[in-house]
Amino acid sequence: MLTEFEGRTAVITGAASGIGLALTDAALERGMKVVAADLNADALGNLERAHRATKNLAICVTDVSSHTEIGKLADFASETFGDVHLLCNNAGVASAGRLWDHGPDFWKWILGVNVLSVVYGAHQFVPRMIAGGQAGAIVNTASMGCLFSAANMGAYGATKHAVLAISDTLRQDLAAINAPISVSLLCPGPVRTPIFDDDLSPDGVEANTDEQTWQSYRKLIGAGMDPADVASCTFDAIAKGEFWIIPDVGMVDLAIDRHNQVLEAADRSV
Ligand SMILES: NC(=O)c1ccc[n+]([C@@H]2O[C@H](COP(=O)([O-])OP(=O)(O)OC[C@H]3O[C@@H](n4cnc5c(N)ncnc54)[C@H](O)[C@@H]3O)[C@@H](O)[C@H]2O)c1
Repeated sequence: MLTEFEGRTAVITGAASGIGLALTDAALERGMKVVAADLNADALGNLERAHRATKNLAICVTDVSSHTEIGKLADFASETFGDVHLLCNNAGVASAGRLWDHGPDFWKWILGVNVLSVVYGAHQFVPRMIAGGQAGAIVNTASMGCLFSAANMGAYGATKHAVLAISDTLRQDLAAINAPISVSLLCPGPVRTPIFDDDLSPDGVEANTDEQTWQSYRKLIGAGMDPADVASCTFDAIAKGEFWIIPDVGMVDLAIDRHNQVLEAADRSV
């Protein structure tokens, strides 16, 4: 479990914007050395310029959907700052649309960015963290959308449900070998970030096939939490080794509704 942050090293993906940017600021404020990774080279450059006075920040342009690039990120982090103590698999993209509107290239893209990034992060970083033998933490950013499902958000929701399953298993796998590495699942509700400003999908892939849902979520998150508060909750949870990070209770009822449905179905079958 990672209880001390000063002088330790963090790798944060999606670090150029929103929650990842706030996690980066929070890690630097706590005296950590940070490798900030993102696909957006311009925004990473801005981040580097904003922190030009510190030697504790290094940037690495990375496509998290690439196993090879995550391996290069792990190499870069260890060459730059030594052992990694905190890995935040945070980069993610949004979508809106009915399930039947999304084709195979869309699915390859969203599963690559939101799910395979987390698996590749585990594959490339965790064996090195175990070998390092030091206290560590992994934070995977899911969403409250990993606990319930919403119409027109099926693809995004599917990826976040997968992040929940992967993270919970990773936590148990590490505990089974007594590794001193905690796993936390960050489940934000609405957070004020630009995630619904642009459809980041590659040419020929449409992530937003339902403008009404897209705009309603854009409005919802516009009134959401400050990313800095989410980052603060996250560091508090890391220091306590907590798995669940629920910064905003606003959507918990939706998760409870689902669990009640399961209990009622189980009751009916006895
Ligand atoms: N904002 C919210 O309301 C909210 C709620 C729940 C969960 N989340 C999750 O939080 C995480 C961060 O989202 P955010 O709201 O800060 O969004 P954001 O758009 O502000 O930041 C996401 C960052 O990920 C980067 N990115 C996208 N594709 C990438 C790739 N292939 N490789 C590397 N980087 C890539 C983007 O360039 C961007 O800088 C995501 O996983 C998102 O699903 C956000």
